[in-house]
Amino acid sequence: MWLFPGIIFSLGMLIPGKLSLKLQYDGDQVFHIVPETFQQVQHLQHLCSTLLLDLWKPQLPEDIRAGEDLHIRVPASLVQEVKDNLDHHMISYKVLIPDVQELMDQSMPKERSSHRQVPEGYVYTQYHPMEEIYQWMTQIQKSNSELVTQHYLGKTIENRTMYYLQISQPSEKTKKIIWMDCGIHAREWISPAFCQWFVKEILQNYKSDPKISRFLQNLDLYVLPVLNIDGYIYSWEKDRLWRKNRSPHMNGTCYGTDLNRNFNSSWGSVGVSYNCSSETFCGSGPESEPETRAVAQLIERKKSDILCYLTIHSYGQYILTPYGFTTEPPSNSEELMHVAEKAASVLMGKYGTSYKVGSTSLILYSNSGSSRDWAHMIGIPFSYTFELRDNGTYGFVLPIDQIQPTCEETMLAVTTIIEYVDQKYFPGGAVMLTSGSLGLSLCLNVLLTWTAS
Ligand code: ARG
Ligand code: ZN
Repeated sequence: MWLFPGIIFSLGMLIPGKLSLKLQYDGDQVFHIVPETFQQVQHLQHLCSTLLLDLWKPQLPEDIRAGEDLHIRVPASLVQEVKDNLDHHMISYKVLIPDVQELMDQSMPKERSSHRQVPEGYVYTQYHPMEEIYQWMTQIQKSNSELVTQHYLGKTIENRTMYYLQISQPSEKTKKIIWMDCGIHAREWISPAFCQWFVKEILQNYKSDPKISRFLQNLDLYVLPVLNIDGYIYSWEKDRLWRKNRSPHMNGTCYGTDLNRNFNSSWGSVGVSYNCSSETFCGSGPESEPETRAVAQLIERKKSDILCYLTIHSYGQYILTPYGFTTEPPSNSEELMHVAEKAASVLMGKYGTSYKVGSTSLILYSNSGSSRDWAHMIGIPFSYTFELRDNGTYGFVLPIDQIQPTCEETMLAVTTIIEYVDQKYFPGGAVMLTSGSLGLSLCLNVLLTWTAS
């Protein structure tokens, strides 16, 4: 190990030709504090800004509030100092993660073998590096060519290709669209894991599950498994806690725009930073980033057909409705809430995981430029952000044994929303093509027409 001023690097695996310098978090701890008074809030804000501590929740020091959870990562070199300081100010704290690096190491796959890449052998209960997700996309469309197509979406700032998958049952009639993206924020690995799980589940079950077969008759599913590809790769190779994309700023002195602050929804107005070294840097202008533009252009082009926009993040366990930049509710907020509450209660039914539901600015924090707000503003009626597990115990470093339960419960919530949307816009139901039900519906039709006249 070499010690550079303030940062410890270590030689990663010494695989020939794959020498990597990866940021290490040995001995870093994550603290949980619930400040009790305004004085404590002020002190903590001061502490976070002067020691440049990494806030995990909330995102910005100004959003620290009395009575609300505060999660901070404290680098190993400052752990003792921070503890002494908190004791001195009689602020009680709990150590959530005693060693961040140890937790990170546990969620890395042990070996990479080729069987992991074939569709039947793809392991959905592990996190996958981007390379494998690219291969997975190719495989999944090859082996489900009757239903799945892969489409070009655009290029990232580092010139990688963005693709989305379209799940679409061949049909004569025009259908509506459900959009879902994952991986806007690089370090939220559970999010891409869920997009992959979602696709797998749909493909596995659409024939046997009447609910899925019903909505697939009316709806096409567009899934973008990783929106922020460069950031995701960077989080695998260089810094597990990277959040933003990898656009260079100020002649390469700082990197990355927070893509979920970069959309054209009251861009730059609240809960963002104009400093490119900040985690919430909103970019040089609305849609300044190629990843944002790529998504926005496709959605803009299809907006009259998109009924539902879902964007998957972690962590905190929330289903969030618009808006983040104003506390003014959207016109359909009651319905949005009703559907989200239903989804949260179905989710809880599986493993008891409790989700909070509500408008972002009211129950989490204010932020502008989010994709969810933008999607709603351009007229997509159902627009939600999911903040998946957990509640802070492991935060951004969710252990792999939680991938499966998280995905299972989230699947239930997401399908609840899709079913609602389906039934709202296609109330007549799906056309059942069995002769029996055809006869029955003909009878009913005759009967209804007759009673109506
Ligand atoms: N995924 C969210 C974001 O990056 C986090 C939301 C709140 N949770 C948290 N731990 N800060 O903006
Ligand atoms: Zn996020």
